Amino acid sequence: MTKIYYFSGTGNTLWSARKLAALFGPTTELFNIGSVMEQPPSMIEAERIIIMFPVYAFGVPVLVRRFLMRHIIHASYIAALVTCGTVSGGALAEVYGLLRRRHVRLSYAARIPSVENYIPIFGPPKEKTKEKRLAAQEESTERAGQEILAGAVNRPWLIRPFSWIVRTLFRLGKRFFVKAYTVDGICNGCALCAKICPAAAITIERKYPVFGSHCEHCQACLNWCPQRAIGYIRLKQNTPRYHHPQVKARDMLRVPSA
Ligand SMILES: Cc1cc2nc3c(=O)[nH]c(=O)nc-3n(C[C@H](O)[C@H](O)[C@H](O)COP(=O)(O)O)c2cc1C
Repeated sequence: MTKIYYFSGTGNTLWSARKLAALFGPTTELFNIGSVMEQPPSMIEAERIIIMFPVYAFGVPVLVRRFLMRHIIHASYIAALVTCGTVSGGALAEVYGLLRRRHVRLSYAARIPSVENYIPIFGPPKEKTKEKRLAAQEESTERAGQEILAGAVNRPWLIRPFSWIVRTLFRLGKRFFVKAYTVDGICNGCALCAKICPAAAITIERKYPVFGSHCEHCQACLNWCPQRAIGYIRLKQNTPRYHHPQVKARDMLRVPSA
């Protein structure tokens, strides 16, 4: 039996997680880390456990770090797969180290190149680039899946001093970057952003979203907003948004819809 725990803002990681689940067969279960983190700490046990998340600033998203520190993870085979835009930096080394601190051995680690989703900084992906990256994502996910099925064992490159600096600066700065979110008057108060936010960082006050300091900057709110009402830095109402084309907003809900 396999359990896949994933964190995803714009659906890239969820898409790869689903592809693996289809490959591994019907005894595979998928869990949204955002929802799991709303449950009390528990023992997570399976024959095979796979942890999947996007790389943030060459490192592990804070929510995933907290997930790894909070739950007891027990399996004979544990894999970590990260989706990333271009460079995964020290994300795999970090997850290896976090698990080792908990006396858990990571058997296999791999990166899955995907579409870059940090569009307020890098802009929306061009159609051609998007196609290429989606194809690369599919190929890498398939390869990682086959290697996991074969019980492959590897170890990420562990010494990554530059990544440590980048991810530390990002984590220190992220609570201040929250102030850069804006909400346009066209917001209709549907609250999809709050239901999707994996970090449960959005509350709705007088119809409009308010962003909490534990925001992960996963880009879910501004990319899934049906009104494109959420802006950030150079992302305006008319800027095209991104999410994985085969993932729907309802697949991303942390809070099940009523
Ligand atoms: C805050 C933030 C930081 C990111 N940092 C990196 C990075 O350091 N390296 C990289 O290759 N991609 C980076 N990305 C891109 C994402 O890792 C990538 O697009 C990922 O596939 C998104 O997955 P998701 O759709 O499941 O959220 C970053 C994205 C965000 C939002």
